[in-house]
Amino acid sequence: MNSFLYNLTGKIALVTGSSRGIGRAAGLKLAACGAKVIFHGVKDSEKLSSVVAEAGNCAEALTADFGNADEVVALAEIIKQKQIIPDILVLNASVQSYTGIANFDSNEFVRMFRTNVESSCILLNELLPEMQKKKFGRIIFVGSINGIKPASRLAIYGAAKAALMNIAKTTALENAHYGITVNTILPGVIETDRNSEILKDAEFTSALKKDIPMHRFGRTDECADLITFLSSEQAGYITGNEISISGGWQL
Ligand SMILES: NC(=O)c1ccc[n+]([C@@H]2O[C@H](COP(=O)([O-])OP(=O)(O)OC[C@H]3O[C@@H](n4cnc5c(N)ncnc54)[C@H](OP(=O)(O)O)[C@@H]3O)[C@@H](O)[C@H]2O)c1
Repeated sequence: MNSFLYNLTGKIALVTGSSRGIGRAAGLKLAACGAKVIFHGVKDSEKLSSVVAEAGNCAEALTADFGNADEVVALAEIIKQKQIIPDILVLNASVQSYTGIANFDSNEFVRMFRTNVESSCILLNELLPEMQKKKFGRIIFVGSINGIKPASRLAIYGAAKAALMNIAKTTALENAHYGITVNTILPGVIETDRNSEILKDAEFTSALKKDIPMHRFGRTDECADLITFLSSEQAGYITGNEISISGGWQL
């Protein structure tokens, strides 16, 4: 896919969790299509400043720990003060940990739901009224195949992603008449920092690839292409959907 098919000149994009991984690739592709991109990470880092430099187009970096609601509100306040209300909002940041349900831990449950679910609700609550005034908007939730397909030791993470899918659909319903589309992408296994340790296990990796109909893992640029398409004018009549990007693993 040629991302220059999409002209995002004049658009502002906020991509949460874009210092690394899928968010980074998406932010760079949106910038390559002309958008001014606000990159985000938990805190200032070399990775965050280098992606901003690479993106150009007056890209900016903002930070907030999404496990802390006050920091999420403060991030939205800065965006409003700077008048950089996004036309494109990619809700991508998340945390993931592997815990069997028999080892349920309330603190971990709260951390996972705060970071992965509540932060998106706060950002929507703070930014949607301003986005609605623009009569154009693209909101892309980055869910997970685990939101629809159970995986051992990922019950809480999967439940958080399932909750997001419902929130995304409601947001789509409530905002369609403002010209705002809302969709969720469901990545399967995409090679990023998050799974680099677990994918070092050759036996595990080989079994996993056998289970995926396309017998390979996905790439961040493939997710970025889908996010860019959903951010474009061309995707203006697509809303309230979940799109798996998983090599058929949802089947
Ligand atoms: N990779 C996969 O196989 C896969 C599969 C299904 C779904 N997904 C979903 O795709 C999205 C991106 O995954 P990824 O693999 O690209 O992630 P990643 O490489 O682990 O990067 C995570 C990003 O989120 C930020 N982040 C981490 N903790 C945060 C917190 N407490 N508050 C705010 N931001 C935080 C990180 O910022 P810092 O750099 O500052 O830490 C980083 O930018 C996630 O929603 C994930 O659930 C990924």
